[in-house]
Amino acid sequence: MAENKCAECHIRKVGGNGSAIYKPAGRINTLGFLRGMVEQCNTELNLGLFPDEVTSIAAVLNRDYYRLK
Ligand code: HEC
Repeated sequence: MAENKCAECHIRKVGGNGSAIYKPAGRINTLGFLRGMVEQCNTELNLGLFPDEVTSIAAVLNRDYYRLK
């Protein structure tokens, strides 16, 4: 799944399994913002994800880490 590509780079930055990069109490406080952040990583890094993939990754991250409404 695309999330592995993401983790690889996050691990280099925060160690562990990379999930420490996701900070629920950080600056991301709306679902739209979270999706925007995923979109930004996607565009800047040329990951080539389709819009619906960006949306579903954001949804998974929200379910597992952020729990925003
Ligand atoms: C080449 C490296 C790299 C890749 C690949 C990458 N990211 Fe990131 N990502 C970062 C860095 C660095 C940060 C931290 C930015 C900061 O803290 O200012 C970050 C931060 C984030 C955040 C915000 C975390 C928070 O709560 O503040 C999200 C969400 C995120 N990335 C999602 C993704 C997703 C989804 C992918 C894959 C589709 C991905 N990233 C791929 C480097 C990467």
